[in-house]
Amino acid sequence: MSEKKTFYITTPIYYPSDKLHIGHSYTTVACDALARYKRMQGYDVMFLTGTDEHGQKIQDKAADAGVTPKQYVDNIVEGEGGVKDLWKLLDISYDRFIRTTDDYHMESCQKIFTQLYEQGDIYKSVYKGHYCKPCESFWTDSQLVDGKCPDCGREVYEAEEEAYFFKTSKYADRLLRLYEENPQFIQPETRKNEMIAFINQGLQDTCVSRTTVPWGIPVPFDQKHTMYVWVDALSNYITALGYQNGKYDDYSKFWPADLHMVGKEILRFHTILWPAMLMALDLPLPKRVFGHGWLLLDGGKMSKSKGNVVDPVVLCQRYGVDAIRYFLLREIPFGNDGSFSNESLISRINTDLANDLGNLLSRTVAMVEKYFGGTIPAQRAAGEFDEDLISIVSAMPAHVTENMDQLLIPQATQEIFKAIQRANKYIDETAPWALAKDEANKPRLAAVLYNLCEALRFAAVMLAPFLPTTADRMAEQLGLSQAERDFDTLTFGSKTEYTVQKGEALFPRIDMEKELAELAAEQAAKAAAAQADQPAEEAPALEKLELEHLDEITFDDFAKCEMRVARVLECEKLKESKKLLKFKLFDGERERTILSGIAKWYEPEDLIGKNVCIVANLAPRPMMKGKYVSEGMILSAEDNEGNVTVVQFPASVKPGSQLG
Ligand code: MSP
Repeated sequence: MSEKKTFYITTPIYYPSDKLHIGHSYTTVACDALARYKRMQGYDVMFLTGTDEHGQKIQDKAADAGVTPKQYVDNIVEGEGGVKDLWKLLDISYDRFIRTTDDYHMESCQKIFTQLYEQGDIYKSVYKGHYCKPCESFWTDSQLVDGKCPDCGREVYEAEEEAYFFKTSKYADRLLRLYEENPQFIQPETRKNEMIAFINQGLQDTCVSRTTVPWGIPVPFDQKHTMYVWVDALSNYITALGYQNGKYDDYSKFWPADLHMVGKEILRFHTILWPAMLMALDLPLPKRVFGHGWLLLDGGKMSKSKGNVVDPVVLCQRYGVDAIRYFLLREIPFGNDGSFSNESLISRINTDLANDLGNLLSRTVAMVEKYFGGTIPAQRAAGEFDEDLISIVSAMPAHVTENMDQLLIPQATQEIFKAIQRANKYIDETAPWALAKDEANKPRLAAVLYNLCEALRFAAVMLAPFLPTTADRMAEQLGLSQAERDFDTLTFGSKTEYTVQKGEALFPRIDMEKELAELAAEQAAKAAAAQADQPAEEAPALEKLELEHLDEITFDDFAKCEMRVARVLECEKLKESKKLLKFKLFDGERERTILSGIAKWYEPEDLIGKNVCIVANLAPRPMMKGKYVSEGMILSAEDNEGNVTVVQFPASVKPGSQLG
């Protein structure tokens, strides 16, 4: 008996620093469609996903939340509404979920690091860079902003830190040869050229340890160092198979990976550092790394810090999981960026899913029930238009396969919809309702309906990797057994009989105008609620007014107000408001965001790195239609002409110092 062919596919492992957005879901949904498709073709698939849980960012987030880093990541990964819940909601059929805080992974990483050190691929040296004392961070030349710390905007000074380095530079030539000899290795092609250019600029060795980030895997032979997160993270692709650990025994079966699917911004780590590490370990290299584009919103990459995040849970609740899966798979072209908008989502649902697919199924099933009481045998009464329909539907699985093998996911879905559209046209051409008027046409009518059922069976089977629930619902209405949904049974005319059963519409049509109006009304209501809380743009004037009308207060009342010195780390103008500036401040304990209506008097650069005074215990309030939450107030003085001056303290005053 011949062994089944294997297919190992991976998503990047996610930073659980925040809840995931619909952009994150794209990679995972795309990998899920590919994994399901390969399983359907009889492959023994290993589909790996997981979370990348170490590093400074997580450490800071946990400190902000007042919990340990492990508690923080446990909650985002395993907690209600966390990463695992989201993948369940989106029907992600992963075979393994790795967390980089899993003991077996950490153990393997330590062995890998030690091996590379012992064989001389990792060496100890000195990391030379620019050091920002308040931030305790090293920066390279290119990371500095106007020669200053990119985090807090303060002066930096030349400094050195002991660190371990990986000899990436040693592998430059082998990497270039790898790309040249394996044109499939980096995809799309255009991205390969970017990587070649990067290497040709001169590849530096990679600093792979830190002494200032305790939340990481300790370097086993030098415990004051922790491993650089990317070394830890990239290793997941082999540790999850059991490389250098006793947890799993799948390494020899599945490595090398058939496909690492990653967003374009992390392609460099996967096509330079990762293969170089594997070369050093003398391990086979992954067969393909695909750098996909981003899902954009308003022309920008979604990110929580920009506030333009679309919540996948809300979208699934409103439109159904398969509608969202379909949108993602259909809308992001191979290797390029795609855009999210309510209009494009609703229009895809209406055109492809409700009109083309939903109508074909409901019309066909309704006619089989109406004219034949729900059951028709296989019919051979051939007629006009049959040949074209049968040839298009029969050829469709091969076209889908061709496209999927080249990772052309939108094109693969398009091929299925071409067959669906052809079948809808066939209904118009054959006009079954007209045939039904004459008893003599019954055999022809049965043949027409049988052909439509077959077309729908092909669609149901081929849609399963993309829209699993929809495929199940179609199979139920068409009365398909599990065996009749097998990819290998896709020979037109092979099913002997259909007994159908009408079900609910697959995708109810959405009234675009009404829906957009409703969404706008919801947004407005949210905005109104936020405004009712505080008229955001008028903040400084209101604060002044309230103070004028206050009655005398007691000392205890005053003592309730906690005023502190805080350092401005970041400050930016908001495109939505002429009055507001958005600040990120360090208040001695944590970072916080405050929106302040002083844009008329200050440019962001005037205040970055400065010490200001904040009211620290004001209840957080939503601003700008709930898009931001302001966590306090920056104190300023306003003269009779309405000129505003922010209260400031010299740099020598420590953030967190209390006023009183
Ligand atoms: N932890 C690293 C990956 C380590 S892999 C060894 C990481 N994590 S991430 O959470 O920031 O991103 C995970 C994936 O989501 C990346 O492939 C990234 O490109 C993808 N996306 C994040 N936002 C996206 C969009 N708006 N659109 C499409 N994909 C995007 O990077």
